[in-house]
Amino acid sequence: MTKIAVTAATGHLGQLTVQALLDRGVPAGDLVAVVRDPQKAQALAAQGVEVRRADYTQPGDWAQALAGVDRLLLISSSSMEDRAGQHRTVIEAAKAAGVELLAYTSLLGADTAQMSLAADHQATETALKGSGLPYVLLRNGWYLENYNAAQSLGAGAVLGAAGEGRINAASRRDYAEAAAAVLSTEGHAGKTYELGGDQGFTLAELAAEIGRQGGKDVAYHDLPEDEYEKTLESFGLPTPVAQMLASSDSGVKRGELATGSSDLRDLIGRPTTTLAQGVAAQLGG
Ligand SMILES: NC(=O)c1ccc[n+]([C@@H]2O[C@H](COP(=O)([O-])OP(=O)(O)OC[C@H]3O[C@@H](n4cnc5c(N)ncnc54)[C@H](OP(=O)(O)O)[C@@H]3O)[C@@H](O)[C@H]2O)c1
Repeated sequence: MTKIAVTAATGHLGQLTVQALLDRGVPAGDLVAVVRDPQKAQALAAQGVEVRRADYTQPGDWAQALAGVDRLLLISSSSMEDRAGQHRTVIEAAKAAGVELLAYTSLLGADTAQMSLAADHQATETALKGSGLPYVLLRNGWYLENYNAAQSLGAGAVLGAAGEGRINAASRRDYAEAAAAVLSTEGHAGKTYELGGDQGFTLAELAAEIGRQGGKDVAYHDLPEDEYEKTLESFGLPTPVAQMLASSDSGVKRGELATGSSDLRDLIGRPTTTLAQGVAAQLGG
């Protein structure tokens, strides 16, 4: 029996990954959902998945959480405070627990990307490489779900600072299925997968697709990075989030979230979710 653990298993990607593992026929009894709040994991427990509690910011939590685990998916934290430090905590505990393979959800092109988000992923990849643990890098591109089609349709506008940059986004479900494939099949140690959607799109194309499906004109307004950041702040976003989103769009402009890699499609064995499907899912189509 190979015991497979998934961290952040109550998050969107974590839940979808556990489900994808079950769908691939991995017995629930071989799965461990590592969560910081077991109350939120009742649906997982009801399926027979073992739930263990551990917080990325609490190093003392991890020895019991990873005991007996053979393969681990470390899903990057959504809490930005010393994010790389949170990830190092898990990597060190995995090493101590004798985990045989650690898969980490990194960022597309993490080694060369300059957007602010990349730094934590670069630091985590470096820690992983230095740990001596067998690892796999799942360098995830953007989620299609990052874009709020209903809100853009209501406003008749998509705002951004991405210029003509292309985004090879895919659905969370696509990335989850890829992670499940890597965790439940052989031959992935040492690999770096650049994961993105089959077809890229610009934000103008996103706006056009939302308009087409919503039956009204939706235009893309391209702003300079600093103006976009200020606009997001004026909508009530905290400054660090506004900065991160604006910096990411500048990265898109430089091509940092575009890829010609077919790794995602190859791992999941089907075409990735399209822009049209992503927009339809959000507009209830
Ligand atoms: N590629 C992209 O476009 C994209 C977009 C957004 C985020 N991301 C990254 O991908 C990750 C997974 O995405 P997602 O959609 O699943 O995000 P999500 O739904 O926000 O889930 C984040 C998960 O991180 C857990 N978490 C946060 N702080 C933690 C801590 N201190 N200890 C333990 N767990 C902690 C949360 O636990 P709770 O369930 O208890 O809250 C939650 O399960 C995110 O965390 C983020 O790093 C990528």
